Order: sequence, then structure tokens, then C-alpha cells
Amino acid sequence: ASGCKIGPSILNSDLASLGAECLRMLDSGADYLHLDAPCSSGRHFVPNITFGHPVVESLQKQLGQDPFFDMHMMVSRPEQWVKPMAVAGANQYTFHLEATDNPGALIKDIRENGMKVGLAIKPGTSVEYLAPWANQIDMALVMTVEPGFGGQKFMEDMMPKVHWLRTQFPSLDIEVDGGVGPDTIHKCAEAGANMIVSGSAIMRSEDPRSVINLLRNVCSE
Ligand code: DX5
Ligand code: ZN
Repeated sequence: ASGCKIGPSILNSDLASLGAECLRMLDSGADYLHLDAPCSSGRHFVPNITFGHPVVESLQKQLGQDPFFDMHMMVSRPEQWVKPMAVAGANQYTFHLEATDNPGALIKDIRENGMKVGLAIKPGTSVEYLAPWANQIDMALVMTVEPGFGGQKFMEDMMPKVHWLRTQFPSLDIEVDGGVGPDTIHKCAEAGANMIVSGSAIMRSEDPRSVINLLRNVCSE
């Protein structure tokens, strides 16, 4: 795919230095930032807690260079955080299809709050369930690990989902998330993904800029 964008996931960074970590990524050439927000209130969608909209608001103020925040909302009842995240400065609100009974209403609400719409599916969810919404969203997120933690193994068997979506919806942004790095980017690019989340492969590198460039180059070939 031409013009792939690289969005480091800072879930695996030093969360006590979040602002500095985000800046480090932007200075290394990140196209956007993928923020994983499993919130602590209500029933957990994943067995992890990171941060919520107050942190996003602080980051947005501190970074001051208008980064694009892609919020990966790994939460139950994603309806409840739309407005707070919009107010905090989130640019894209990516929710899980599995977490809501009414995707249509949620999509509308996200738009009315001025954000782009991302729709995510877990590895166990068939892409057929996402298809009916594809014309109403900005981005489809095909998870390539079970959501929750960074550093897991890439699930190559998710690539047919990406490929199918790319064939059916040529202009849709398609994001992959989980275990994506220099060893797995080829598969993602081949299948047609154009928004590439990469956590540990970038964060753990001593030279994040070169990893980001490598991912972008392979993907845009
Ligand atoms: C998994 C998260 C990912 C994660 C990616 O729950 O959605 O964004 O941080 O990290 P890596 O690239 O290490 O799998
Ligand atoms: Zn994520």
C-alpha cells in the first residue's frame, strides 16, 4: 500500500514518562500515536488498566505539536468515553465491535463529537461482522493479538481478514495492531494494511527512527 502510516503504541513505554516517550516517538518520525486506553471503571474488556482521558488531556497540552491521537478503546461500554475523549483532544476513537450492541449509534456519536471513527475486531471475531459498518467508518482495526498487552506474538492467520477488507473497501484505512515489527511487516503490507501500530519493536529499539523508517518503507513498497 502506498503512503503507510506508522503509529507507535506507547503501552509498553515507561508510563511515568509518557510525555517524553510520546515526544521521542514524534521526533523519531512517528505519523501518529496509538494510545491503548483500557479504563479502570466498569467491567474490564481486557485484563489491564492503563490510562484514561485525563492523561490524554495532559499529553495533548504538553506535546503542543498537534499529534494525531488514535485512541484504542479496549473498554466495555465504549459509549461512555466518547465525549470525555473528544474534550481531552483525541483525534480518532477506535472501539471494539464486541463491546457494543449498537455500533451505528456509537459511530454517529463519535462523529458528532468531531472525531474520526475506528472499528476494531478481536482475533476471534469474523470480518463479516465488521463489513456492514465499513462504509461508515474511517478505519478498520484488525487485531493481530488478543488485546490487552504489548509484546505478544503476531497472528499471521489474521491476514486474510485484512486482505478481504482491502479487496472489498479499497479506500478504507486498515490498521493492524499486535506483534508488528520488522519481521512481520511484510505480511501486513502484502495483505493491504496501511496503518501500522507497533509497540515493543519500536519502543525497545535503541534507534526507533530507523525502525519506523524501515516499517514505512516496507509497507509503502
Ligand atoms: C495490545 C495493544 C497494542 C500493543 C501493541 O493490546 O492493542 O497496541 O501495545 O504492542 P506490540 O507491538 O508490542 O504487540
Ligand atoms: Zn492497541
